[in-house]
Amino acid sequence: MYFPVASVLLAFMVLGVGQCQSDCSYYNLIKNLDLDNNLFVVRPTMNWTIPTIVYVDMYLHAIIHMDMSEQTVTSFIRFVMTWTNDFISWDPNQYCGIDKVMITGENLWEPDINVFETTETEDNYPVTAYYTLHYDGKITQEKPLRVVSTCNLDMFKFPFDKQLCNLTFVSFQYPEAEMVILPKSNASTVNKNTKSVFTNKGDWILQDISVNNSEMEYGSLSYSYVVYGILIERFPLIFIMNLIIPACFMIAVDVFSMFMSSYSERLKFKITGLLGFSVLLTILNDMLPNSDSPPILGIFCCVCMALMIFSIAGCVGNAYMMDLSLKEKHVPQWMKTLILHCLASLLYMKPNAVESNQVTVVIENTDSHETNKEGFKMKNRWKKDSQKVKISLEAQILTKILTEIDNIRENSRKPSSTFNMESEWRLI
Ligand SMILES: *[C@@H]1O[C@H](CO)[C@@H](O)[C@H](O)[C@H]1NC(C)=O
Repeated sequence: MYFPVASVLLAFMVLGVGQCQSDCSYYNLIKNLDLDNNLFVVRPTMNWTIPTIVYVDMYLHAIIHMDMSEQTVTSFIRFVMTWTNDFISWDPNQYCGIDKVMITGENLWEPDINVFETTETEDNYPVTAYYTLHYDGKITQEKPLRVVSTCNLDMFKFPFDKQLCNLTFVSFQYPEAEMVILPKSNASTVNKNTKSVFTNKGDWILQDISVNNSEMEYGSLSYSYVVYGILIERFPLIFIMNLIIPACFMIAVDVFSMFMSSYSERLKFKITGLLGFSVLLTILNDMLPNSDSPPILGIFCCVCMALMIFSIAGCVGNAYMMDLSLKEKHVPQWMKTLILHCLASLLYMKPNAVESNQVTVVIENTDSHETNKEGFKMKNRWKKDSQKVKISLEAQILTKILTEIDNIRENSRKPSSTFNMESEWRLI
């Protein structure tokens, strides 16, 4: 009666023990590891003189924002740390082949690796810490990080600038003797990984990521660090479309207004153009970064503005001189020397070439002389003909009319003295 009951119990016990020895649940594994022990919150090493080696890896997901005035870059990265805990290990054969387990844990020691350039703590971005424990004591932590880091932004070539921003991963607590930080992947692997996850938001194009590790002196201690140098290039299309092309159009319109004959109209036109350009400058003011080195685009706009104002001043001067030309016959001598010689030579224009109006007058003169000569020839021929042949009265009248027309034409071609005067003013 007792024997079968005892044998059944024994069988259950044997079965239970057998299940325990080959346990397939994570739960029992973690229970057996006894992670709640306080042992795990100090640096988990058997020998304190041996530093813990931490391998770090980084995937750059996006450049979220670049603050020109504060000189900060906000980036979003996936950060991976791997280190070894000497006190955690198990035999995968005992646990149904489990060689790693993911846990969330507050009682596990983790390296205090932070970004050296960071300006904001990650308090406003809480992420549950997950760890992957490996059977040999290797622990991996992966977490997303929103990093606001300082970066020395050089705006001189804006919007055609490239920026190099460093993300330095360093421990603020453990010096090099306690903890050594090494990169897990080399630069080519980091680039390859990042290219596969980087989201181009249109503002920035990722050029390259470099990886280096070294030590830095901080206080009296030396700290090991890994630095990722992120080289990004700005996508300039929006700035070209919104600023540079409109500015060029404005200047072109301003130049074309030169062909308007009326000075008052031209002046009105130019001032309207200037108003349009100042609207553009207001937009630019919002876009342009504040930095110590002025961006070349700002200088470009300044020069454009100066050109427009200069052309308005020139227009006003022109109008004034045209008014003056009605009152005074001759150009004052000082104005002649100032403009025709000094300014013209400054602009590499030969005064002869400048005197286009006079040149055309001269050409017209010679032209008229030549035509006159031809006219004379013709007249002579007519005369000869008239001598040779008995010509009719009508023909003689025709010859006379021809000579008269010739004279009239000659008179009309002759530059009048007033025209000469105006051309002199025009030239100035
Ligand atoms: C970088 O690492 C990968 C994989 O670890 C390797 O295949 C490659 O040769 C390495 N490149 C360089 C330049 O060392």
